[in-house]
Amino acid sequence: MAAQRGEFSSRLGFILAAAGSAVGLGNIWKFPFEVGNGGGGAFVVMYLIFCFLLCFPVMVAEIAIGRKTQKNAVGAFVALNKPRWSFIGKLGILSGFLILSFYNVVAGWAFGYVIEMVSGNFDIGQHFGEFVSNWMRVGLYGLVFMGTTAYIVSHGVQGGIEKAAKLLMPSLIIIMVVLLVYALTLPGAMDGIKFYLIPDFSKITGPVVYSALGQAFFSLSLGMGALITYGSYLNKDQNIIQSTAMITLMDVGIAFLAGLMLFPFVFSQGVEPTGGAGLIFITLPGVFEELGPNMGVIVGSLFFLLLSFAALTSTVSLLEVPVAYVVDEHNVPRKRAVWLTAFLVFLIGVPSLLSNGASSILTNFVQIIGMAREGATDHSFMTFIGWVANDTFLPFGGMMISIFAAYIWKKENLAEELSHGDENYKGSIIEKYINFAISFLAPVVLSAIFVLTVLSRFFGIDLVG
Ligand code: PHE
Repeated sequence: MAAQRGEFSSRLGFILAAAGSAVGLGNIWKFPFEVGNGGGGAFVVMYLIFCFLLCFPVMVAEIAIGRKTQKNAVGAFVALNKPRWSFIGKLGILSGFLILSFYNVVAGWAFGYVIEMVSGNFDIGQHFGEFVSNWMRVGLYGLVFMGTTAYIVSHGVQGGIEKAAKLLMPSLIIIMVVLLVYALTLPGAMDGIKFYLIPDFSKITGPVVYSALGQAFFSLSLGMGALITYGSYLNKDQNIIQSTAMITLMDVGIAFLAGLMLFPFVFSQGVEPTGGAGLIFITLPGVFEELGPNMGVIVGSLFFLLLSFAALTSTVSLLEVPVAYVVDEHNVPRKRAVWLTAFLVFLIGVPSLLSNGASSILTNFVQIIGMAREGATDHSFMTFIGWVANDTFLPFGGMMISIFAAYIWKKENLAEELSHGDENYKGSIIEKYINFAISFLAPVVLSAIFVLTVLSRFFGIDLVG
C-alpha cells in the first residue's frame, strides 16, 4: 500500500501546496471585508495574533499526525491505535465535502468574472445579482472549476498537487505585486492605507474578536484534516516547525497584501469599505470600471484571475481529503476516486448554486427555517452551510485534534515526531509553547468559539453579531 502513496518531492513543494491550501477565497474575498467591518487595523492586529499564537500550534499538530502515520484523515487515528478517535477524521471529510460544495460556487463566480470581463462584459459588477441568479451560467463556470480541480488532483501528489502549486502560487504572488504597485499610484491610495493600517481599538468588540478568530482558523485550513492529509505526504527529514512557520507567514502575508492592494482601489473612488461580500464582486469591479475600458479590463481580469488561482489551490486540498481517504482505506484507484468524489461534491453543491436568486426557497432558506438574525441581509442556503461547516465543524474539529494530540496520542509522541528534521526541538521553548497551546489554549478558545456559534447561529441567542 505505502508504495502507492504519493510524496512531495521537496520541502518547497510541500510548503507551496500547504500554503496554497491556506491562501484562498478566505484571504482575498473574506479577509478584506472582515477588516472593513471590524475597524480596519484593529482587526488586522488581532488576526495576526490569533494566527501565530493559536493556529500555528494546531497546524503543527495536524501535520505531525499526518507525517507520523502516513495516512489520510481517518486512517491516521486508526494507525495510532485510536480507532475510536477516527470520528474526527470522518467529521473532517464531511466538512471538506460541505465546504467544497459551496466554495466551488464562489470560485466559479471569480472564474466567471475573468471570462466575462475579457469577453467584453466589462460592467459585470453592476449585474452581480443577475449573474449569480443565472444558475445555468454560473453552474457551468462552477463545473469547469470543479473539473479543473479534479484534473489536478487526479494527477497525484507530485504530478498534480505539487506541480499546480509550484505554478499557481508564484503566479499569484506576481499578479498581486503588480496590482499592488498599481493601486498605490492611484489618487487617494493613502486614505485606504490609513484605514487599513491604523488600528482603532475602540472597534474591538466581542463579535469582532469572534470573527477574527474564525477567520484565522478557516484561512489556515485547520480543523478538517487537510493538513493531516498533506502532512502524510511529507518525509521524515523535513522540519515541521519551520515549514509551518513558512506556511503561516505566507498565508498571513498574502492576506495582508490583499488588503494593502484593495483599500487603495476602494478609497481611490471614494466608496465605502464595508459592504459585505459584495465588496469584491460589486464594489471592486465598479472601481475597475472607473479606470477606463483598457486599464479596467486588464486590472479587473487580472484581479479575478488572482482570486481564481488562490481558490484553485484551496479546492485542490479540499478535494484531496476525501480522495485520500477513499484511496487509502477502500483501495479505489486515484483517478476513479477523484472523478466520483468531485461529481458527488458538485451535486451536493447544487442547492448552494441555486441559493443566490435562482430558487427563492433556497435564497431565503435561513429565514424560512426561522434562524434569520436581525439586520442580516443574506439568508441563503449557502450561508447556512457556511455556519455549519466553517463556523461549527472546523472549530470543533480543531479542538478535538488538539485534545487528541495532547492527551490521547500524548505530547511526548508529538515531540518525538517533531524532532525528526529538528534535533533541537526537544527541550526548546517552542516545544513548551506548543504543548501549552494544544493542551490548554486551543481547547479552551476553540470550544468557546464552538459554543458561541451554536448558541447564536442555531439557538438565536445573538452573541457574535
Ligand atoms: N484556507 C482556505 C481559504 O482561506 C479555505 C480552506 C479551508 C481550504 C479548509 C481547505 C480547508 O480560502
